[in-house]
Amino acid sequence: MAQKINHAAVLPAAGKDLEIVTLPVPTPGPADVLIRSHVIAVNPIDRVRQLFDLMVPSYPRVLGSDTTGVVEAVGSDVTAFKAGDRVVAVTDGFIFGDNGRESYQTYTVAQAATTAKLPDSVPFVKGSTISLAIMTAASIIFDGFKFQVPGSEASAEAKALPAAGVGPIIALWGGSSSVGSMTIQLATSLGFSVYTTASPQHHARLQRLGADVVVDYASPEAAVEQLLAAAAKAGKQILYAVDTVNDAKKSTPFLEQVLLKSATSAASSSTEGTLVYISMLPKYEWKSGLKPQFVNSADVWKRRTDIGAWLFGSGNLTRWLADGTFEPPIARVVPGGLGGLQSALNQVKGGVHGEKLVVEVE
Ligand SMILES: NC(=O)c1ccc[n+]([C@@H]2O[C@H](COP(=O)([O-])OP(=O)(O)OC[C@H]3O[C@@H](n4cnc5c(N)ncnc54)[C@H](OP(=O)(O)O)[C@@H]3O)[C@@H](O)[C@H]2O)c1
Repeated sequence: MAQKINHAAVLPAAGKDLEIVTLPVPTPGPADVLIRSHVIAVNPIDRVRQLFDLMVPSYPRVLGSDTTGVVEAVGSDVTAFKAGDRVVAVTDGFIFGDNGRESYQTYTVAQAATTAKLPDSVPFVKGSTISLAIMTAASIIFDGFKFQVPGSEASAEAKALPAAGVGPIIALWGGSSSVGSMTIQLATSLGFSVYTTASPQHHARLQRLGADVVVDYASPEAAVEQLLAAAAKAGKQILYAVDTVNDAKKSTPFLEQVLLKSATSAASSSTEGTLVYISMLPKYEWKSGLKPQFVNSADVWKRRTDIGAWLFGSGNLTRWLADGTFEPPIARVVPGGLGGLQSALNQVKGGVHGEKLVVEVE
């Protein structure tokens, strides 16, 4: 049998470029799968970790949390997967500190709980961009806004999902981001209306994905007024807002205005709006009259395993990929295999537009 060689792109020290080395093939624990990666996606957090020593317990460090490939081996407790299965997964190394559980390498370990089968009809490249983005979108709705996970028991903490035809509005800044495009699709499939901002090149696609209203953010002040006018025309108060841009100057204050002005103009304005944000905003002074709520999708491995179970364990994600219910973020392949990851990270720093950068592992 051919020997397995694990090539890895490692960060030698904070702020340095990645280097390709050979590392031992990681060993899956009882609840894990070992994946031979075929396509790896790059996320903005990877670049932040590279530059700012964030969630890097020691060097050299492997980065990365999205992978797509074939199961090589499974842990003793895993029954849902077997060697040879095509899968997508989110890895948890950035939370638990283990290099073997980061995705920028040929072989990586992921929890079975955040792994899903990839249908044969979906190419690895296409499937590679969905895992972290949909896990975050689900965290926004179920952990941020505290709506009930479908199929779960009613509880005092969780609000019922919208009744048919009601369509509560979610105002979403940055609808063309990976998390934004998955939030549009997931939220509208669950009965919400999504009003979002994006540059004009993305408008038609976001409408096709389900957004009810899409406005340009070139003038954020004008975007606020357009979102409010659309809500007024629909006769609804905007009670939910999501910030995927998380910029204290360019996005967050404008979503605050959306919630606060919508409350003032609505006929019954007794309820405080919730603004979910997904990157830390150091020293941001929140206006009163709304509820800011930080969401970290990593909680899916800790407090909110029910969200992971609904997406991955239930087979929902596999079914949605098979029948095309959800369109993954658009993948753009950066050439060079693992060696292309540094170029991809450089491009992420400059900003990507409506796509996610991925590399193919030789
Ligand atoms: N907390 C968590 O669990 C979690 C999980 C995943 C990601 N995140 C964070 O969430 C953020 C989004 O991640 P992502 O992967 O979805 O990002 P992404 O896809 O790389 O975002 C790029 C998009 O942002 C849009 N954008 C940039 N500035 C904008 C502005 N001022 N207004 C509206 N849209 C703007 C761009 O639109 P145009 O093309 O129109 O310019 C572009 O399409 C990142 O900060 C990431 O670190 C957090």
